[in-house]
Amino acid sequence: MRPRLLLAFAPNLVLALLAFLLPPDGTERGPEVMSVIGNLHILALHIPAAVLLLVPLFEFWERHEDAAGVTVRRLSLISAVGTFGASFCGVMHARFNGFAGDGVDSHLWAGVAASFFAAGAWVVLEQPRRLRMIAQGAAIAVMSLAAHIGGELVHDEGFPFRPNKTVREANVVTKAPPAAPDDYRDVVQPILENYCVGCHGAKKVKGKLRMDSLEAMLKGGEEGPALVHGDLKKSTMFVRITLDKDDDEFMPPAEEAQLNAAQIEAIRLWIERKPIPAAVAKEARVGARK
Ligand code: HEC
Repeated sequence: MRPRLLLAFAPNLVLALLAFLLPPDGTERGPEVMSVIGNLHILALHIPAAVLLLVPLFEFWERHEDAAGVTVRRLSLISAVGTFGASFCGVMHARFNGFAGDGVDSHLWAGVAASFFAAGAWVVLEQPRRLRMIAQGAAIAVMSLAAHIGGELVHDEGFPFRPNKTVREANVVTKAPPAAPDDYRDVVQPILENYCVGCHGAKKVKGKLRMDSLEAMLKGGEEGPALVHGDLKKSTMFVRITLDKDDDEFMPPAEEAQLNAAQIEAIRLWIERKPIPAAVAKEARVGARK
């Protein structure tokens, strides 16, 4: 069992070391090849997710008590190597493609743990069936946890057991008349996507505030809701974009692309639930393409 242990855990220790030494800090950086390896995470993660689930299925079918049968061995090896590969790409994705935040950290370490557990399930293949099943169950549990946190990062809280954003936003809008929903979709949302969501979205959550959905804005960040319909003073998103430009709290931060007057006006009207005139919408859109 010794060489097996070494073979299984040495690469994972290196993986954990990499995650520790190259933490995600929100900076997108070169070299290009690392960014691409990072992107492969999204592809690679499906392999172990599927194969890990197959292992116990074949344990049931094959019924080898003392040591695992050949199919289980092969699947277990594929799942361990696959989990390692997906986690390795994930660590690179987080580091080189500009991710940051608590959610990203939890996802990353859960992924590294999943790789350890998948390797552990492979190490015990010579052991009695019950122990093998426990090890496989643990690997699946840890992998599911990692996958769930990752799913929430990309798809929003509560994924997958919650209707998607478009469906929910339709509800938020109808529950909160009369602001024109089209103004949000056509004018305001593109502005926020361009100027705010890079720092207030799934990748980074500055000030604990996300601005990539209506719900998230209503919920707000450390300082309270970013959006209170009909109340500009309580809407921190409006307060921040209308501060003095030299103010430390001015948004977007000074070194970033700045909103034009029409965009600020469009956001103001929308928060006040007033229709955005076509001329303002046009100017706001022109700015949004820069
Ligand atoms: C380059 C990154 C960056 C961009 C782009 C950016 N912000 Fe921020 N934002 C931050 C940081 C960092 C903080 C936390 C520090 C602070 O409170 O000033 C923050 C905090 C905030 C807060 C306070 C959240 C809270 O409850 O504490 C609001 C509101 C806000 N930003 C609105 C916006 C709006 C609106 C935009 C787009 C027009 C925007 N931000 C664009 C980095 C950014």
